[in-house]
Amino acid sequence: MINFQELAEKYKTPLYVYDFDYMKEQYNALKEAFRGRKSLLSYAVKANSNLSVVQNFARLGSGADCVSIGEVRRALMAGIPPYKILFSGVGKQDDEIQEAIEHDILYINAESIAELERIDLIAKKLDKVCRISVRVNPNIDPKTHPYISTGLSANKFGVDIDSAKRMYIFAKNSSHLDPVGIHFHIGSQLTELEPIRESAIIVADLVRSLHVIDVDLKFFDIGGGLGVVYKDEITITPYDYAQAILSTLTGLDLTIVCEPGRYLTANAGYFLTRVLYEKTNKDKRFIIVDGAMNDLIRPSLYNAYHKIEALKQEGERTKADIVGPVCESGDFFAKDYELPALAHNDLLIVHSAGSYGFGMGSNYNTRGRSAEIAIENGVDRMIRQRETFEDIIALEKDFLQENNE
Ligand code: LLP
Repeated sequence: MINFQELAEKYKTPLYVYDFDYMKEQYNALKEAFRGRKSLLSYAVKANSNLSVVQNFARLGSGADCVSIGEVRRALMAGIPPYKILFSGVGKQDDEIQEAIEHDILYINAESIAELERIDLIAKKLDKVCRISVRVNPNIDPKTHPYISTGLSANKFGVDIDSAKRMYIFAKNSSHLDPVGIHFHIGSQLTELEPIRESAIIVADLVRSLHVIDVDLKFFDIGGGLGVVYKDEITITPYDYAQAILSTLTGLDLTIVCEPGRYLTANAGYFLTRVLYEKTNKDKRFIIVDGAMNDLIRPSLYNAYHKIEALKQEGERTKADIVGPVCESGDFFAKDYELPALAHNDLLIVHSAGSYGFGMGSNYNTRGRSAEIAIENGVDRMIRQRETFEDIIALEKDFLQENNE
């Protein structure tokens, strides 16, 4: 049991708390599901990119799925070897591609013909060979929130099957590209297995047809997306997930690469916030807390549900909107949420905050980002300091002009 009260007193609020042991359990459960097959779990760094979080996965043998050179640098700093690092994303810049090639990472996931040509050019200039994979868009509806759905032609991600084939032929004919993998990722917070299985069938068929033209791939990258329980979702078990994928790969000797983010970190994270005030406008009850949308934007952006628990349980529960101090009506953690009567300084725990929480934060309203804390073997430690006003203005203050008299 995590002593949230003690942590809130020791580190102040708002505060992110991550249970590193839970992250390990999740990693091991997923790794175990692919037992007996060559597999690489490459943690999707974007889900929670704190260096110590990434290091926690590095120590378990995890790779890293990165979407910017900044994330690649984080992964390397946290101890993930280059040969377990992937670089994905629809819009990689020249200097990012160059640095990835120089680090000799496992492969770059190319998301368009134009990008592949660019990678070829840069590899040529460096006189290197770049391992690549192509992100295929299988045009399958993942049945998740439209903002986190990526596997339909209407989404900006990946390329259709015909373009993918052309890209592999281009790569095969280039002396600076080595096509080693194939990639798909149809969306995030997936709770239905069928779209994943259907996508895997399409992509595995493409692997077979590439074999016929002498393009032999080694890595079958199934992306991330495994959903978790925020409220009452029925989620896919790691076993069923692995079985669904493996069933599509008969006759193929491929290393399975998986890029889990949320599955590993979402329910390891808690966001602690204290009540500032309560008020009622006509009949409407508001609980104003010290955390805000700049700390955790998922409710505002996706209308996402996060369970909110009051440490103080006594008293009749009535509906309230839990809102932050930011000057936006969209600044809320929950609406019409039942909570007991609360007083100044009472602590609220926002659950499932370990993925896409801190990382999507900002300094909006000149609010410093929260501190981040790890709990490992029952011991807590700081993994990121609370931002101060000085931190926020550090890159601006030297540009102030002298006042004109
Ligand atoms: N691989 C690729 C290529 C991805 O685009 C993503 C997530 C992942 C792996 C990891 O997906 P996960 O296992 O975490 O579902 N901010 C949104 C989620 C955005 C996901 C973007 N891509 C949210 O808060 O729900």
